[in-house]
Amino acid sequence: MTRLHVNIDHIATLRQARGVNYPDPVFGVSVVEMAGAQGITIHLREDRRHIVDRDVALIKQTVGTVLNLEMAAADEIIDIAKQTKPDLCTLVPEKREERTTEGGLVVAGDLARMKAVVATLHESGIRVSLFIDPVEREVRASKEVGADIIELHTGDYCEAESAEQRDVELNKLRAAATLGKSLGLNVAAGHGLHYHNVRAVADIPEVEELNIGHSIIARAVFVGLEKAVTQMLEAMGEK
Ligand code: PXP
Repeated sequence: MTRLHVNIDHIATLRQARGVNYPDPVFGVSVVEMAGAQGITIHLREDRRHIVDRDVALIKQTVGTVLNLEMAAADEIIDIAKQTKPDLCTLVPEKREERTTEGGLVVAGDLARMKAVVATLHESGIRVSLFIDPVEREVRASKEVGADIIELHTGDYCEAESAEQRDVELNKLRAAATLGKSLGLNVAAGHGLHYHNVRAVADIPEVEELNIGHSIIARAVFVGLEKAVTQMLEAMGEK
């Protein structure tokens, strides 16, 4: 069985675009959980472009499944994580100019710092996942710095332009997952996964968990739009 953790950042993106207090990602937590997802993922970015501090605090209080806080290994955010105590933190690289997380963490080139960050989160009882490219060096480095989980970056697989390239990328994910599991790490995957390409990744036996956001929130617009228009007509007294 593969667990689904839904990344609800983009509910907050819609809210921040207007500077209002809806749609509230806190409400999204209940809907996602009622639909059967096994976890909630949120990314508190340093620029607070979607999820904000208030969301983190309230979601921690209301979540009924598992809370995965994605974050950069930045002091300010580490302090928030330590106060909030989510079930797990996923460390990701973060650049202010990027639209979304672009590449995996470079753990191998930053062993001492990563080891210290993992240790400080462990002191607060938080499990640590590292978001890495599916390459042997990074899987081994993740083990070395004490991570509990690796989240394999599926971006290259999702962006592959041919079936051959997709197979190449899928095999990288498979190999990294097998290696991770053999080293005693839990294995997750995510980024860019969509309805048409998720199955092959979900079928990798070692992958226990998928983090999926944008495609789900994007689809929610269309599977919900008809009802939303109907309800507005009702509110107008026209239905
Ligand atoms: N996993 C990680 C580490 C991410 O940074 C993101 C994007 O926030 C996701 C998964 C979800 O990616 P997407 O929104 O493309 O499904």
